[in-house]
Amino acid sequence: MSNANVLVDELDSKSAKVELERLAVAILHHDAQYYAEDAPEISDAEYDQLRRRNLAIEQVFPELVREDSPSSRVGFVVLDKFEKATHAIPMLSLDNAFNDDDVREFDARVRRFLKLDAETVLSLTAEPKIDGLSLSLRYEQGKLQIAATRGDGSTGENVTENARTITDIPSVLNGKNIPDVVEIRGEVYLTHKAFAALNVRMEAQGKPLYVNPRNTAAGSLRQLDSAVTASRPLKFFAYAWGEMSAMPADTQMGMVEQMAEWGFQINPLMAMFEDIETLITHYHRIETERSSLPYDIDGVVYKVNDLGLQERLGFVTRSPRWAIAHKFAAEKAWTTLLGIDIQVGRTGALTPVARLEPINVGGVMVTNATLHNQDYIAGIGNDGEQIRSGRDLRIGDRVQIQRAGDVIPQILDVDLDKRDGSSKPFDYPEICPACGSHAVREINEKTGRADSVRRCSGGLICPAQAKERLRHFVSRNAFDIEGFGVKQVEAFYDDGLVMNAADIFTLRERDARSLKKLKDREGWGTTSAAKLLDAIDAKRKIELHRFMFGLGIRHVGQQTAKDMAKVYGDAAVISTAMQAMDGPESEAWQDLIAIDGIGDTVAASLQEFFAEPGNVKVFEELLHELEPIAPEMAQSDSPVSGKTIVFTGSLEQMTRDEAKAMAERLGAKVSGSVSKKTDLVVAGPGAGSKLKKAIELGVDTVDEDGWFALIGR
Ligand code: IVH
Repeated sequence: MSNANVLVDELDSKSAKVELERLAVAILHHDAQYYAEDAPEISDAEYDQLRRRNLAIEQVFPELVREDSPSSRVGFVVLDKFEKATHAIPMLSLDNAFNDDDVREFDARVRRFLKLDAETVLSLTAEPKIDGLSLSLRYEQGKLQIAATRGDGSTGENVTENARTITDIPSVLNGKNIPDVVEIRGEVYLTHKAFAALNVRMEAQGKPLYVNPRNTAAGSLRQLDSAVTASRPLKFFAYAWGEMSAMPADTQMGMVEQMAEWGFQINPLMAMFEDIETLITHYHRIETERSSLPYDIDGVVYKVNDLGLQERLGFVTRSPRWAIAHKFAAEKAWTTLLGIDIQVGRTGALTPVARLEPINVGGVMVTNATLHNQDYIAGIGNDGEQIRSGRDLRIGDRVQIQRAGDVIPQILDVDLDKRDGSSKPFDYPEICPACGSHAVREINEKTGRADSVRRCSGGLICPAQAKERLRHFVSRNAFDIEGFGVKQVEAFYDDGLVMNAADIFTLRERDARSLKKLKDREGWGTTSAAKLLDAIDAKRKIELHRFMFGLGIRHVGQQTAKDMAKVYGDAAVISTAMQAMDGPESEAWQDLIAIDGIGDTVAASLQEFFAEPGNVKVFEELLHELEPIAPEMAQSDSPVSGKTIVFTGSLEQMTRDEAKAMAERLGAKVSGSVSKKTDLVVAGPGAGSKLKKAIELGVDTVDEDGWFALIGR
């Protein structure tokens, strides 16, 4: 019977305790609804009434005031980041069994290790493997001190404030004779119902939906604002322990029963078996009940019941020898491939996604599956594993799909017998569906094979890549504009204010003309707006290599950008040279790869980038706004300053790297191949074709001594 309507004066100690608990849970819930969700479910007056009643009961029964009493909690804690928490005893993982024989082998292995014969009874517990995240709770003198996530097993994150909002986690242990130190370990999870309700709320607020209960539970526990955690009805099952100053039982079962007495939830499906075959039967029973359980499980965990035997068995690296997780098989089903959609990722990769006739696989409706890449559809496979290489996929085919845990469903197989004349091969697009630029497959320099991923080359204009490109453009090693970070990129892009890099530099001018000023935006003011525009202006003069790097051209990292800046010295020159490229035979290509450190992959990527008119347009718009500055030529009075030099043959007085660095310090460019543009070839003994070519072309040549004489050493 509920005590909710009983007058405070009429409560006895027992019913007061129950009522205080009910109020603590209710107030926590309403606080979270109010603070984190902006969705209060009761009026302020009703809320005040709950708080007053709680206080009144606490005054009559001061000995019953809860550790987590609402009257001692002021709002919620908001952290900058989590502190680290080191586990007194590491949190281990479990070895896996994938079929019944693996389990029999586990039983045999344990027996061998313990020298038990087949007749000796070996009791094993079996309990569902909860698909959540593990948490370690440290109690000292019965009071919750630290809650820590698993982390890397040795050190996790201190999420104590958040754990305190989980009603399944007692803040004080129940009962008498509680050991000084008690560490309880178990799984935080979210029920299917709570997960679905949360997504209904997300949808109503127009927010993106959560993918699965496990990730949502993990995300919820790792909120820096504990009000958000409190608004998620997380639950907790206890199943293991860490440090214990005294052991209250000598079996696994006994320990778990003790945990229940202390006030934890333990899994009702936990059971004990004395022979392996009955245990396996139990596993299959749980397997069939799996889809009707209110939470996700991904297997059954078996543990040796006797703690003395556990001790003897010990551990192998990261998992105990006395336990194993018997995993459920991935679930499979046949359905029809209705179509293939192409998605463009934020890095420009085109990814095919199978649209399927909706089908229920193990309780979950599946409507699409990953197809990885073009080769996968064509049945050319380095798709590894069990997959269908050698069979192309056609629209209309009957396909077998597999769902395993929360991974995106995969296509395992095609039923070629069911294929009739109506199935159609899929023409893989060579044009980016998001921006119309060419989508290309790189040739891997080492293998000579086309890369499995086809990528959009419209880096500067593709809407699918735009935010990512902008983020890169303003990042620390590129333009590094103060006050222009990820947040501003997101907000300005979403409002159509900055759609590409060039837009950043027209912001001031557009803002002056605009009715909706930057300073009037939410979170902005006159000072902050002026500061941002000044910070942008400050970067109108920018080092050429930062400019080049900022464009986010594939394979053009900081070093390549520096090398290019040094050799070409000017952005417009780069643009002309890159647009002049027409395959590896062209002179512009050869000149480019003559730069040390630049090869065909970089050249191909630059050629593609500058072949897209959209990219060139933004590049030119940028040059209109900016003044990229060439790197300073060091020691410009040196006789080799500005000269292009090739070192060849075996050098005797210096290494090739030293020679290069020395020449560059003197303002020379060092190239790997001889062309008309070479000014000087420094040839050591054994110089061959490069020296020959230099002589043919009439390029000056010197030996090593000549080089030192020239530079005055
Ligand atoms: S026992 C030393 N029991 O599975 C063994 N783990 O792969 C400690 N898990 O990190 C773990 N349900 O997050 C155990 N009933 C259960 C479990 C369980 C889920 C998770 C746990 C652990 C992982 C190991």
